[in-house]
Amino acid sequence: MTLVLGFNDYLAPAQQLAHRLSIPFKQVDSHQFPDGETKVTLPSDLPKQVIICQTLNQPDHKLIELILVAQTAREQGVEQITLVAPYLCYMRQDIAFHTGEAVSQKIVGKLLSDYFDAVLTIDPHLHRIKHLSEAIPTGQALALFATPAMTDFIKKNVENPVIIGPDEESMQWVKAIAKTDQWHYSIANKQRFGDKDVAVTLDDINLTNRNIIIVDDIASTGRTLEQTVKQLLPQEPKSISIMVTHAFFVDDAIKRLHALGVTNIWSSDSVLHSTNTFSVIDILAQAVESLSTT
Ligand code: R5P
Repeated sequence: MTLVLGFNDYLAPAQQLAHRLSIPFKQVDSHQFPDGETKVTLPSDLPKQVIICQTLNQPDHKLIELILVAQTAREQGVEQITLVAPYLCYMRQDIAFHTGEAVSQKIVGKLLSDYFDAVLTIDPHLHRIKHLSEAIPTGQALALFATPAMTDFIKKNVENPVIIGPDEESMQWVKAIAKTDQWHYSIANKQRFGDKDVAVTLDDINLTNRNIIIVDDIASTGRTLEQTVKQLLPQEPKSISIMVTHAFFVDDAIKRLHALGVTNIWSSDSVLHSTNTFSVIDILAQAVESLSTT
């Protein structure tokens, strides 16, 4: 028997995962003391196999929570612990850009591999490595794509869109989406000078009166999207929509994008946000099923 364990701050998707896998769900009780420390209490009678479903935005507190849960589960006799983390933190710092910087991807990856037998996630930001197992050296480390869910959503909601990627990295997602119905696409060129300082240049393509969808994995400050929208506006498209897997949209990012005239902002439930419109839980559930049959 397998059980899904979830937390109060990512409850509905974890329950949905259990439902989709037709296995029971139980919640971990997590209490934060006034000084910021965490106490977790696991349900009793855990089976031999447990799937922990927690997304890792705002990760520092959640990582401690996860380790406490995983270690306690082991001590209670759980043999196989799988982590389903729709958003996987600390993947962007994959080298030391300056002397003395910690390579967070490797350190956090190793930490997770110490506690989990398998780790599954969606669109982790793997820039200089090809496979998630290079960051998380555990038995099975799977990086899945949100693009099937994105494509389904677009097909149902937008007629003949043009898909725009804001930078070279987005090409993989943009191409995967565009090929479904031979939609037009274009990839912009991005230069980042600082957290909130980004320049984007677009190829010369005619977008007048077209429905444009900008696709990216993460929206953090929203500056990448904002600069892309600014480049698109002079072409007078019919609409500009934004679609991302992981929606952070920190500070006033959403307000700024709407102020520019963005029609729709769509995101997946990998991170809970008011823009969530499509789900990646089915994709994760299918991958969990394939793990158990291999
Ligand atoms: C970076 O290459 C990612 O794919 C995103 O484009 C980036 O994380 C977005 O960051 P921001 O919203 O802060 O521009």
